[in-house]
Amino acid sequence: MDLVLRLLMLLLIPWGWAEVTFDFQDCGIFNEELHEKFTHITDIHEHPWMARLGYETNRGIAYKCLAVLISTQYLLAPAQCFETKQLAETTIRYALLGDWNPRNAHMKPDCDDMQRCNAEPQLMEIEEIVIHPEYRTSTFSNNISILKLVRNVTFTDHIRAICLPPLGINPIGQYLSLAGFATNATIGYKLKALVHITSNSKCRRNLVDYDNLFAATPYKLKHLCGFCNLNSSLITGSALMGVHADELEPKNYYLVGLLLAMSNDMPHIYIRVQPYRKWIESNINLMDMDEGKQ
Ligand SMILES: *[C@@H]1O[C@H](CO)[C@@H](O)[C@H](O)[C@H]1NC(C)=O
Ligand SMILES: *[C@@H]1O[C@H](CO)[C@@H](O)[C@H](O)[C@H]1NC(C)=O
Ligand SMILES: *[C@@H]1O[C@H](CO)[C@@H](O)[C@H](O)[C@H]1NC(C)=O
Ligand SMILES: *[C@@H]1O[C@H](CO)[C@@H](O)[C@H](O)[C@H]1NC(C)=O
Repeated sequence: MDLVLRLLMLLLIPWGWAEVTFDFQDCGIFNEELHEKFTHITDIHEHPWMARLGYETNRGIAYKCLAVLISTQYLLAPAQCFETKQLAETTIRYALLGDWNPRNAHMKPDCDDMQRCNAEPQLMEIEEIVIHPEYRTSTFSNNISILKLVRNVTFTDHIRAICLPPLGINPIGQYLSLAGFATNATIGYKLKALVHITSNSKCRRNLVDYDNLFAATPYKLKHLCGFCNLNSSLITGSALMGVHADELEPKNYYLVGLLLAMSNDMPHIYIRVQPYRKWIESNINLMDMDEGKQ
């Protein structure tokens, strides 16, 4: 590229872009062919960071929430997944990684129509849960938590981490990807969809309609709202994702938000991950240090 053009581009780059600093190594594996497919059922290797949270009940393990793998040992999930109401008569014990068809017995390998099969899902015990200290049920704020697994998972084709969101991204008005599992258990398979993120003002009105006044007050919402082209609802904790491009090539998925509430006629509500990046990173460092001490 000649120098003049380069200089021009530098001048034209909006501030947000200049702030994008993040280590995109070994996370958010991206496959353009899969990304372009407008089907709702994912490929068996697609969005391999989705984990199902297992609650121990007297009838076996129940899966009620989703979490998203952000490294070999840590996941993010809505704080709501660990509320006493969710936990009544159950104990959260496990994260099931690498599952694709929930109708299949959870520890059996899943295969697609073309007889391609994944290795068995991995059922990992959860060692520690950190709920955001300012999570308040009364105000709908800071609905986010970090989970630590008892050991590191080994990444495979169907188990991998997603990248954290870079600084300075602005998802408003964009189409983003959503991945998760349906609340309706008869719908097998990990699903994906497109989400159109609404304006901040529409999201604010939406939060008010959900009796979520407090969350609607800050100028910069920590929530996002969006309409999605999928007509079955997905489980809490489904991942809202953007794509990071290195120059002209799309390279990685990064996590933009976690699905909190989905109802038919209103935009769905997501908690944004970006405002919590510092909190996430410092807590992971602390938890790693704890391990060093043992
Ligand atoms: C947290 O998210 C759950 C869904 O995961 C939602 O039902 C709940 O109302 C939210 N609570 C708060 C306090 O935001
Ligand atoms: C997991 O891996 C990290 C970094 O690779 C390491 O610091 C940590 O000790 C490992 N944890 C366990 C439980 O092996
Ligand atoms: C679940 O999905 C099936 C179709 O896959 C549908 O027949 C059934 O009515 C759905 N159940 C609920 C509770 O929506
Ligand atoms: C849901 O999607 C399916 C397949 O695209 C379609 O056949 C069905 O009519 C839709 N249902 C509703 C309620 O929109």
